[in-house]
Amino acid sequence: MKIIIVKDYEKVSDKAFEIMKEVVSGNPEAVLGLATGTTPLGLYARMIADHEENGTSYARVKAANLDEYAGVGKDNPNSYAYFMRKNLFDKIDIKLENAHIENGMALNADAECKRYAELLANMPRDIQVLGIGSNGHIAFNEPGTPFDSVTHTVELAESTVRDNARLFDRIEDVPRKAFTMGLSEIMQAKKILILATGANKADAVYGMIRGEVTEQLPASVLRKHPDCVLICDEAAGSRLKN
Ligand code: F6R
Repeated sequence: MKIIIVKDYEKVSDKAFEIMKEVVSGNPEAVLGLATGTTPLGLYARMIADHEENGTSYARVKAANLDEYAGVGKDNPNSYAYFMRKNLFDKIDIKLENAHIENGMALNADAECKRYAELLANMPRDIQVLGIGSNGHIAFNEPGTPFDSVTHTVELAESTVRDNARLFDRIEDVPRKAFTMGLSEIMQAKKILILATGANKADAVYGMIRGEVTEQLPASVLRKHPDCVLICDEAAGSRLKN
């Protein structure tokens, strides 16, 4: 894994954008794997600014998101579908029918997982953007998830519910179940960009890079990927220095 440690969140976002721009400029039909959460917001803001200022077009780009809360509809402000529209899709020229995400309201969860897995198999990602959970999860693949997993439903770890509570009024409102892309599907992307910022990610980053490659720390699977770049700020990378 290539490791880039930069000063702060803004620099992480700059570097991530540089790599994203290279992919999209090199291939106007690129397929992007995208993440929600706080970490990629700076990257998305730069994609929007670049679209507005330089006309970089996403009209032929396709996107597939990592995960979605179960039981939360796409027009609910807490859904990841809504998050993506608000923070990126509504502000660039991507066609919404080309931007895919699991349907949190699917009545048959198994059928929805199968549908999404088939979709992913037919749209290999040129680049996958990832954040990392403080417990080492990627997407909602919590510790213990098999490396060969495909799209599935998951009970969120207590630590994930706590981490995500900051975005809800009350911790009781945080959904406990989600749909997530599996680890084997994440690994299929041609290039992976994992972003980590803030001191609360330092242990997970250290474990991912220096610990064992183990299903107990899902992000460690990325060490097996031929083209994975970690971009982190000094706080998240602090334990890598010694
Ligand atoms: C989001 C996702 C999660 C987040 C991770 C970090 O789609 O799949 O794995 O990337 O929980 O979240 P933030 O960026 O909010 O710290």
